[in-house]
Order: sequence, then C-alpha cells, then structure tokens
Amino acid sequence: MEGMEEAVRELARRLAGASSVSVLTGAGVSAASGIATFRGEDGTWSRFRPEDLATPEAFARDPSFVWGWYEDRRRQVAAARPNAAHEVLARWSRRFPHFRLLTQNVDELHERAGTGGVVRLHGSLWELQCWEACPQSPLRWRDETVPLTELPPSCPWCRGLVRPGVVWFGEALPEEALLAAAEAVQTEVFLAIGTSGVVQPAAGLLAEARARGAWTAEINPEPGALAAAADLSVPAAAEDALPEVEARLAAEGAGGC
Ligand code: OAD
Repeated sequence: MEGMEEAVRELARRLAGASSVSVLTGAGVSAASGIATFRGEDGTWSRFRPEDLATPEAFARDPSFVWGWYEDRRRQVAAARPNAAHEVLARWSRRFPHFRLLTQNVDELHERAGTGGVVRLHGSLWELQCWEACPQSPLRWRDETVPLTELPPSCPWCRGLVRPGVVWFGEALPEEALLAAAEAVQTEVFLAIGTSGVVQPAAGLLAEARARGAWTAEINPEPGALAAAADLSVPAAAEDALPEVEARLAAEGAGGC
C-alpha cells in the first residue's frame, strides 16, 4: 500500500528529528492482545450500556453486576500478553530523551512491556478503592489476585464496599494525571494510537498539542475523529504500523532515505 508506506516514512522522519515525543493510547493498542475495545461492532459498548457498567450510579445500584464485569476483565488481562505495539513503545520510552506515554487503558500492558512512568488517565484494573472513602484506607491500593477472594470485595480497613480503582463516566481524572497531560502536550511530536478520540479530556489532547506547535499523527485502522485533527493519519493497526515505523527509524538513524 503506497499511501501507508508514505505515511510510515513520514512518521519515522519526524520521529528521527525529535527529542520530545508524547503518545496517547487507547483500547486499540491492546486489541491484538485479545482485549476487546469499547466501540465498534464487537466492542464492550455494543453489548452493555456504559451507564450500566461505568458510572458511580451503576455501581451504587448493582455492585455485584459491575464487579462481575471487572472480574471478567481482570481474568482476561491477567491471561493476556503485551503485543508488538506495546513493545515498540516500551523501546521508544528508552530511546527518546523526553518520552511520555499517556494511556486511557486500565490493563497495564504498557507497564508489563517495560514502559516506565506511564500516565494512567483512567486508573487501573489492578487498583481498588474504598467506596465509602473511609479515612483509614489509602486512596487506592493494589490487588492483583485473580480471582478475587471475595466478590464484591470489602475494604480491609472499614469492611465497607470496595470499587474498582478506575475512572468512570462523570468522574474527574486523577489530579496527577491531568498535570502530566498538561506537560505532555508541550512536545515536538504527539501521537494518538488506537483511540476513537471521543472521550474527553483525552480526546482533546492531540488538538491541544498541535495548537502548542507539536507535529501530530494518528495510528488507527479506522481513522476517526482524530485523523481530521492530526497532521498525518496512518490507517493501520498499531501492532503492524509501529514495528514498521521502528524499522524505518533505524534506517533513518543509519542515514537511509
Ligand atoms: P474505543 O473502543 O472507543 O476506540 C478504540 C479505537 O481503536 C477505535 O477507533 C478502533 O478503530 C481502534 N483500533 C481497533 N483495533 C486497532 C488496532 N489493532 N490498532 C490500532 N487501533 C485499533 O477505545 P478508547 O478510545 O480507548 O473509558 O475509549 C476511550 C474510553 O472510552 C475508554 O478509556 C473507556 C471507554 O468508555 C471509560 O470506561 C471511562
């Protein structure tokens, strides 16, 4: 595909000259690891309504139903492995002097691939939080037990109900993640990979980076909202495009053209 080759070459050329690179990822990056995306034909939101699963109101109404879905997701993710897209990004986190990875994913596959300092905009499947926000408990704590010993789990400090440590619709993002995102948009190159770009505030970051002077690109086999806002659209799966860009980048480094 000539257009695709041209896009890969252009992206590699931009990366070769950059010292600061910020990347925003979404569910599409984990698709090749077998984790379902949210939107689209086989997406989670084609089977469930977000307001039944991913809001504080849904949890208050039926914590067992919500936990059933998260437990299932924890099981799937525990059995999954990072794919080529996660692996390339992990190598880039060591290659570029200023590299920031912001993710909307709660699966921690970027961390498992070896990317350090990942900014988790929407929290983590592996963190728990006291629903009562009891003063004895930390804000969030880790629990990677699969399956959980008790469902729904109870707070080890106050014995009250525990919720997943993820951000739901209608909730604010963690303050430290917002601060990191504000820094990440000040960069030479900003890439959005595997996200439909419809959930704010993550969806607005590419345009914000571009407004601040970054060169921007999107990688998505079904170019969507962000393709129109970006300088370049790479219409391919992340696990295919990123290794190609990496190979091209190596050729650029070796003085190739
Ligand atoms: P979506 O499911 O909305 O979008 C996934 C995107 O990945 C789509 O645009 C697909 O075309 C693309 N895609 C699919 N396979 C791909 C592949 N192999 N390589 C690259 N791209 C691929 O997921 P997000 O944009 O991450 O929030 O969704 C954002 C937020 O909405 C999620 O964090 C979640 C969800 O509701 C909450 O639960 C709060």
